[in-house]
Amino acid sequence: MSRVISGRSLPGEFYHDREIFEMDMQRIFRRCWLYAGHESRIPERGDFFTWQIDRDSLIITRGRDGEINALFNSCRHRGSIICTEPFGRAVKLICPYHQWAYDTDGSLTSARLMPDDFDKSQFALARAHVRTLEGLIFVCLSAEPPPFELFSEAMLPRLLAHELTEARVCHQKEYSVDANWKLVAENSRECYHCGAGHPQYVKAVGFAAAIGSKLLAAEDRAQEEARQARLSACNLDPSPVPFAGDSWYHCRRFYLRDEFLTESLDGKPVAPLMGRVPGYEAGVLAVVTLPNLLLEVCPDYAVTLRVTPSGPLTTRVNVEWLVHKNALENTDFNLDRLTAFWRLTGEQDWKLCADNQLGVNSSAYRPGPYGPDETGVRHFVDWYLQRLIQTDPAAHSMALAGAQ
Ligand code: FES
Ligand code: FE
Repeated sequence: MSRVISGRSLPGEFYHDREIFEMDMQRIFRRCWLYAGHESRIPERGDFFTWQIDRDSLIITRGRDGEINALFNSCRHRGSIICTEPFGRAVKLICPYHQWAYDTDGSLTSARLMPDDFDKSQFALARAHVRTLEGLIFVCLSAEPPPFELFSEAMLPRLLAHELTEARVCHQKEYSVDANWKLVAENSRECYHCGAGHPQYVKAVGFAAAIGSKLLAAEDRAQEEARQARLSACNLDPSPVPFAGDSWYHCRRFYLRDEFLTESLDGKPVAPLMGRVPGYEAGVLAVVTLPNLLLEVCPDYAVTLRVTPSGPLTTRVNVEWLVHKNALENTDFNLDRLTAFWRLTGEQDWKLCADNQLGVNSSAYRPGPYGPDETGVRHFVDWYLQRLIQTDPAAHSMALAGAQ
């Protein structure tokens, strides 16, 4: 096992080794709060969608009481998967094998031909923990989830004005990225690559263009201060929630270049305004939750990127686009225009991540030094290693033996 060197990228095995991938699943994805999707995907009672995480499939349902449930998609009879569709609406969840039937809250309601004294109450579907924040559904597979409250308290004042509870998913797209999930996470934690990698992003977003140019950075800082003052005057808190210590969430508001009102290719609005934001003065709210969510909320639409590892060398990324629930396609917005910016940005990133993977697979790969614009990557890697340390002292010595 190669050593981890502080201030350098991780050794190659962290990006391709099956054993480390299994550790990532056990110690990160089975313990942390994970973003599952926006609740508008299951607006009615009986609506569900499924989500495969590692060996588990989850059924995210809206029960008859209107509450959201995360049920393990494994029948309590002999274990068959129950929901075979990615989404749908059902009065009962019926196992295709011997037709045991479950309510949408997971309770077993009928077990065909079982003895009269069979106690159905003992055979409800296993459940994962669920919490929602402004329409964003989070689940945790652990029996003892980490606290959620500090996160929701920090995020709520920043998210509330955008009224994501009044939004709906108008489009979603799944990508299979040929890269380890950590390369995908690292890519989203720095904009060192933006200048060359995302010409359209740099055109829209001031800070991306400022990377590497002190002159531009100073100009953008002055502009940002003026905009923050205007935002404060509208009773919107523009202050960021920084990653502190080993915390798993972060948010900040940034402002687009003058000629850009939203994250679109031409800078023009792509949908009706959402929420109670003061026109286009609100800029863009960016929220990151580790290990698997990037959310960007523009004044007129929002986008979520959900990251799910699907193997040591592959990652699924599900992108959701959200607009106000009353906005009508082809009347109030054009889907191609609405989705173009993040389709392009995402697809550019997936190619960069796949190229990164091919390179770290090389026998010649050696961990390289982070630059000054890669503090987000350093935080992510420190957070990741901490998760391994907290759960396994042996991993501690492995991960930090070479730290300098
Ligand atoms: Fe589901 Fe038999 S395995 S009813
Ligand atoms: Fe990128």
